[in-house]
Amino acid sequence: MSGIRPTGFLHLGNYFGAVRNYVRMQDEYTCYFMVADLHALTTLNETKELKGHVRRVMAENIACGLDPDRVAFYCQSHVPETTELYLFLNMLAKVGELEKTPTFKDKIRLQPQNINAGLLTYPVLQAADILLQRAHLVPVGKDQEQHLEIARDFAIRFNKRFGEVFPEPYAFNFGENLARVPSLDGAGKMSKSENQNATLYLADDDETIRKKVMKAKTDSGAEAGSPMPESIGNLFQLLRLVAPEETVEVFMAHYMAGTIRYGDMKKELAEGMVKFIAPIRERAAAIQDDDAYLRRVMEQGAVKARANAQVTIGLAKEAIGLVYY
Ligand code: TRP
Repeated sequence: MSGIRPTGFLHLGNYFGAVRNYVRMQDEYTCYFMVADLHALTTLNETKELKGHVRRVMAENIACGLDPDRVAFYCQSHVPETTELYLFLNMLAKVGELEKTPTFKDKIRLQPQNINAGLLTYPVLQAADILLQRAHLVPVGKDQEQHLEIARDFAIRFNKRFGEVFPEPYAFNFGENLARVPSLDGAGKMSKSENQNATLYLADDDETIRKKVMKAKTDSGAEAGSPMPESIGNLFQLLRLVAPEETVEVFMAHYMAGTIRYGDMKKELAEGMVKFIAPIRERAAAIQDDDAYLRRVMEQGAVKARANAQVTIGLAKEAIGLVYY
């Protein structure tokens, strides 16, 4: 089980860090992937934007290979059992602990004018998402580790207090196969909050991709024998994502020989990126415009997610003692 925030555009880092893993998991596991539209309410001022965000993030994930026929792919708000479990879990949540959550402290800093209780209980809602499907594995990045620990804590607390209902969920990734996707500005990784010109989005058109790649940072002037500068290492890493091994080797040989022309390498990288991103972008655009298809996906996802959720709610109510006849 995992949740996808419906904000911003998916970029290459999201693809290699998250979506590609979802796609691989769908072959081996029973999967629940959810668009966290209720979580978005904790920070979104303009809720009119939700519809576009939700449709785009769903379309982009499907365009990347997530198969709504093989997994449950749904919107959080279409599964009202989520909020039911959220309420139960709130009774087990300690306000003091929630206040100490680093992500809450960050939010206080970012939006001091809107410190709503939803922000405080954000991790409770996330735990509800996970426990509702009685998930064992949660594919998430490092930034979600704390939230996952909280979810695991709720499972343990609930089981101890009311009886065994929830498996303990653990963060999951494909280990060393998780590719790092460096930024184009020479340092750090691609992310939506950093420099937009150094991040390749799955919605970027061909010209935008080329422009961004050609402007990528390449500090030259490295002395022979000195370690490869980070910006150049990053270009090689990016090239490896989208170009055949032989091509990478050719540029590496030139680098070693001191005959590399970064312009040529960037051209190769740009074309590789265009070839990689264009089909995803086009599929995503077509899906976003297909009302009937998206509706079918969302309905079918909700049916699958709710079927399992209702079993969980039944178990939880019985354990708590909320069954009177
Ligand atoms: N909080 C997650 C994020 O910011 C999104 C999320 C919501 C999630 N519910 C979840 C992730 C359940 C994993 C499991 O990315």
